[in-house]
Amino acid sequence: MHAMSTGESAVMGMGAGMPDVSPNGAGSAEDPPPQPAGACVMVIFGGTGDLTKRKLVPALYNLATGGLLSEEFAVVGVGRTPLTDEAFREQLTQDMQRFATQKVESARWDALVRRIYYLQGDLQDNGTYTRLHELLGQLDQRHNTRGNYFYYLAINPEHFLTTIERLDATGLMREGDSGGWRRVIIEKPFGHDLESARKLNRDIRQVLSERQIYRIDHYLGKETVQNILVFRFANGIFEPIWNRRYIDHVQITVAESVGVETRGPYYDVTGALRDMVPNHILQLISLMAMEPPNSFGADDVRDEQAKVLHAISQHSPEELLSRAVRGQYGEGTVDGKRVPGYRQEARVAPESRVETFVALKLNVENWRWAGVPFYLRTGKRLPQRVTEIAIEFRRAPHILFRDTPVHRLAPNRLVLHIQPDEGISLRFGAKVPGSTLRLGAVDMDFAYEDYFGSTPSTGYERLLYDCMTGDATLFQRADMVEAGWSVVEPILDLWHAVPPRSFPNYAAGTWGPKEADDLLERDGHRWIKDRPIKSAASR
Ligand code: BG6
Repeated sequence: MHAMSTGESAVMGMGAGMPDVSPNGAGSAEDPPPQPAGACVMVIFGGTGDLTKRKLVPALYNLATGGLLSEEFAVVGVGRTPLTDEAFREQLTQDMQRFATQKVESARWDALVRRIYYLQGDLQDNGTYTRLHELLGQLDQRHNTRGNYFYYLAINPEHFLTTIERLDATGLMREGDSGGWRRVIIEKPFGHDLESARKLNRDIRQVLSERQIYRIDHYLGKETVQNILVFRFANGIFEPIWNRRYIDHVQITVAESVGVETRGPYYDVTGALRDMVPNHILQLISLMAMEPPNSFGADDVRDEQAKVLHAISQHSPEELLSRAVRGQYGEGTVDGKRVPGYRQEARVAPESRVETFVALKLNVENWRWAGVPFYLRTGKRLPQRVTEIAIEFRRAPHILFRDTPVHRLAPNRLVLHIQPDEGISLRFGAKVPGSTLRLGAVDMDFAYEDYFGSTPSTGYERLLYDCMTGDATLFQRADMVEAGWSVVEPILDLWHAVPPRSFPNYAAGTWGPKEADDLLERDGHRWIKDRPIKSAASR
C-alpha cells in the first residue's frame, strides 16, 4: 500500500475541548510528496452510466488537482449512446456541476476533459473492440500512454466475461509484446453465489492472471476503512487488548435511510444479504479482526484478511435460524416524510420476499477471537445513514464497588465511526464530582475533520490511483471473494428453503424487525447506536 504515512502525532482533544493541533496539522513536513501515477489510458465500459458521472470522473478530477495523474494520461468512455467526443465532454462538464466534490477550476478541468474521448459501441459487437484497438493506438501516439491500459467494467455483471474475452480476442489484454501493462477493474456483484463466483474467477483466469484483476469493493476506498489498519497497527496501545481476553463482543452497523431507489430490478433479485454482507461488511470484519500482516504488500495484507474469512464458523440450518434475521420494510416515516413500503417501490414484485434488512451473529473461531460474537446489521430505510464498528470491552470486576452506591459498571466501548461522521470515540467511566461515589460514562472523541480538514473525495480516488500504480492491496483477491460467498451461502440456502412468514416486518424509519433486537437480547446485549461525532466546526 502506498502513501501510508504515519505522520507526526497529533494530540487528541477530549470531549468538547478543542484539539491541540490546527486542521491539517498532523502531516509531517518530511512526508515525501505524492508521486503522480505513470502513463496510461483508462477505458470505462459504461461510460455514460451513473458511476462514471457521479464517482469516477469527479475522482479523476480530484486526482488531477492533487497532482496524482500523469501528464501522459487519457480516458475513453465506451457506451451505446451515439455521441461525439465533444458532446461527451460537454455532458461530463455539466455533470461535474452536480457531482464534483470540490470547486471546479476551469483551466484544470479543461486540461482533464480534453483527454477524455468517447467510443460508441455495443459490448456484444466485435467491431467495438476493433475500433477501441485503433483508438488506443492513436491515443498512445497523442498522449504517449505507452500501451498501458486499464479497463473499468462499470457494466451489468452478465457482460463481465464476454467483455474480457473480446478484449483478449482483439489483442487488448496481451501484455508484453507492445510493452504495456493491461489491468481490469471489476465492479460488484462478483457472482451471485459461491458457485457463480468460482466459475467467474475460473473463466476470467483463462484470460488474465490474478495480478491483472482488480475486484473492487468501494468500501476499501473509504479513508476511515483504510484507517482501521493504521489505528490497530500503528498504535502500541490497542493491539495487546485486541482479543477475546479483553473484548466482549463487536457490533457492526451499516444503516441506510434510503430505500431501494431506482434499483428495483437489481435489488429484487439480490437482497440485502448479497448486496452488503459478503463484500462490504466482511471487509470491515476482516480488517477489524485480522492478524498483523508482515507488510502492506498486497499479498501480505490479503493473506491475513482471507484467514479471518476462513475462520468464520459455519452452522447447521437449525443454528442459523437463531443467528440470522431478515426483514423487509413496510411503509413508514423517514426524516419526517411518509415513504412507501418495499413492495410498493418501482419495479419491485408486489409480493416480493426479498429482504431489505439483515442481522447476523457470526463467530471467528481462531485463537484471537473464539467466543467473541460479531453482531452485524444492515438495512435500507432505517432511521439514518450510519456505518460504525463498536467494540465493547469486558466489564471490570465490581468487587471494589460493592459497598458503594455504584451498582453496575459500564463496559468500555471503542467506536470506529466510518460514515457519515468520521472519527473514533472511546467511552470510559469517570467519577461524577461530588461527595458521594457516583460514576458517569464519558466519551473521548476524535473527529477526522478537526485534525485533517475535509478532503474532497468520492471514495474512488485511492482505488483508481492504486490500479494505475499496480497496487492491488485494496482490491479483493479471488479467494477472498469466494470465502465471502462461503460465509453467506448457507444462509441464502436456508432462506431460500424457508420463505419469510411475515414480510413486511419493520416499518420504514425504524431499526429493523424485533427479532434483530431479540438476537442480542438472548446474549444479554443491546444494539449500540453511538452518538454522532461532532467536529469542532459543526458543534
Ligand atoms: C452498494 C450497494 O454496494 O453500496 C448499495 O449496492 C448501497 O445498495 C451502497 O446503497 C452503500 O454504499 P455507501 O458507500 O453509501 O455506504
